[in-house]
Amino acid sequence: MKKFLLSRGRFPTIANNLAQKDLLKKFKKCSEIVHIHETVQIHDHQNISIEDNVVIQVGVVMQPGRKRKITIDKNTSLGPYTVVMGHVIIGKFNMIGPHVVFTGGTHRITNLKKSMRSGGSSFKGGIVLEDDVFIGANATILDGVKIGRGAVVGAGSVVTKNVDSYSIVAGVPAKKIKDRRGLSVIEGE
Ligand SMILES: CC(C)(COP(=O)(O)OP(=O)(O)OC[C@H]1O[C@@H](n2cnc3c(N)ncnc32)[C@H](O)[C@@H]1OP(=O)(O)O)[C@@H](O)C(=O)NCCC(=O)NCCS
Repeated sequence: MKKFLLSRGRFPTIANNLAQKDLLKKFKKCSEIVHIHETVQIHDHQNISIEDNVVIQVGVVMQPGRKRKITIDKNTSLGPYTVVMGHVIIGKFNMIGPHVVFTGGTHRITNLKKSMRSGGSSFKGGIVLEDDVFIGANATILDGVKIGRGAVVGAGSVVTKNVDSYSIVAGVPAKKIKDRRGLSVIEGE
């Protein structure tokens, strides 16, 4: 039987009661060690996998939809009020800041004969974050984007294209401003 080690201490937790534990069982997969704030809104649990030591902070919304999936790998944290929609695969040791939006799919806008509301969806393959990525506050990541290992996305960026490993991108649309491999290491850091 699954045993959930619910967070004690640093992060407020999903309520420590049987009803919440039953809720966790609805996921496609959920680790035994997760930290999920009780205000988190989750839709389509059956399409969501969450691995060990994932931290999901206050007000996060996760909504893969019926045909897509969300995967969050080990030791990754989602900051307050982040929204994860559509097909989004998030690797290990990632830090996602507050109010980040992942739009792993969108509305179809090409059919003028129908309202966009009834025109269906458009999909470019979803979003992939490799490992050790840092996404700054208020960034938006669009469908079809892959963010490489060790990359940094600046606060407030709108990421429309793939981001190379170890790049630092910022702005709207996000452009490369630095490469982490060129930065000097300060003693003691
Ligand atoms: C992207 C980031 C890491 C870059 O930090 P840095 O390496 O110290 O960058 P610098 O301050 O040297 O800025 C380099 C250039 O990029 C620009 N820049 C930096 N961050 C930017 C951003 N988020 N959006 C647009 N431009 C940005 C700077 O204005 C500067 O431009 P200039 O050369 O024309 O003067 C940082 O600015 C950032 O956005 N951090 C995220 C903070 C955050 O959201 N924290 C949440 C914690 S949970």
